[in-house]
Amino acid sequence: MTLQVRPGILEIEAYIPGEAELPGSGPIYKMSSNESPLGASPAAIEAYRALSGELHRYPDGGAVALRQAIGAAIDADPDQIVCGAGSDELLQLLVRAYAGIGDEVLYSRHGFLVYALAAQSVGAKPVAAPEKNLRTDVDALLAHVTPRTRICFVADPNNPTGSYIGGAELKRLREGLPANVLLVIDSAYAEYVDRPDYSDGADLVRQYDNVVMCRTFSKIHGMAALRLGWAYCPPSVADVLNRIRGPFNTPAPAQAAGVVAIGDKAHAAKAKAHNDHWLPWLTARVNEIGLKAHPSVANFLLVQFPKEPKLSADAANDFLKSRRILPRKMGGYGLGDCLRLTIAEEPALRACAQALGDFVKQAATQ
Ligand SMILES: Cc1ncc(COP(=O)(O)O)c(C=O)c1O
Repeated sequence: MTLQVRPGILEIEAYIPGEAELPGSGPIYKMSSNESPLGASPAAIEAYRALSGELHRYPDGGAVALRQAIGAAIDADPDQIVCGAGSDELLQLLVRAYAGIGDEVLYSRHGFLVYALAAQSVGAKPVAAPEKNLRTDVDALLAHVTPRTRICFVADPNNPTGSYIGGAELKRLREGLPANVLLVIDSAYAEYVDRPDYSDGADLVRQYDNVVMCRTFSKIHGMAALRLGWAYCPPSVADVLNRIRGPFNTPAPAQAAGVVAIGDKAHAAKAKAHNDHWLPWLTARVNEIGLKAHPSVANFLLVQFPKEPKLSADAANDFLKSRRILPRKMGGYGLGDCLRLTIAEEPALRACAQALGDFVKQAATQ
């Protein structure tokens, strides 16, 4: 007798996080995981530390104070907020609740990898709709709906492309999808965007009973280590998630830090100002060097390299690593000719721009 793993599980290629280590000593410029170079709000760190003597206590399983703070911040009923161990957990729970063996989970070709992995984990089929110019294509998504489609995921802005489609397109998608398909709008990078046509999707949650918006404390709030995310849901979906989530799925120090972080508008504004300055700066440098920077509205930049081996993304990855800079390889997203670079701290960005310039120059002399 041997252990029987459920069909399909062994076909899953486990998510590979951004690299964080390099051999040798000296500082590392980590540009591989879209973390905030400003770190967490000092007040949130203090709230986290204040609970260090309480580690023997279970957290509030209902995360009441945190859900109230989030509800107040977005003018929503706290009962419609569900917190999770990162938005990752909420994405997984939504799939577990609404899709199963033989069902289809729809997403955009270069959409966030977790959607396909979550689908596979429950025996559902991930269905990728093609994109236009590395941008979510609503018509393509709608064309790929079948009677088996249960969930449609859209990250807006999308990771790793950095592009967005905006509120009108999200609404058109919702109206084109059958009512029995849950639309999950993953707005992990919403705080970085200030385009007039952008919407984080909260308005659609208010209008429809089949739209969920997921958010995270990992990005602009700089709290990726705490694993804290939340979903704004119609009441029926919140009820479903509350039935299947772990009873204590978010730690007390994370909840306490989250309450403070969501109220610390000044810290989030600083992180946004940093991004507003350095995202266009890096975009311009990359383009000047002769590489292609895909326009981004998030805290990262997708850079496309020529196919020629000496100028390829793989060669650039090795070159950057030799300068102790860690970009994110994109093969897993079907973008093997690209690297994704986080808008990190200024020295990292300057070192990266310099290294990319040197990489192109040395390739020309080879
Ligand atoms: C689009 C998108 N959604 C969700 C997540 C997951 O974030 P969390 O740290 O909250 O699990 C990420 C993280 O990179 C992301 O890029």
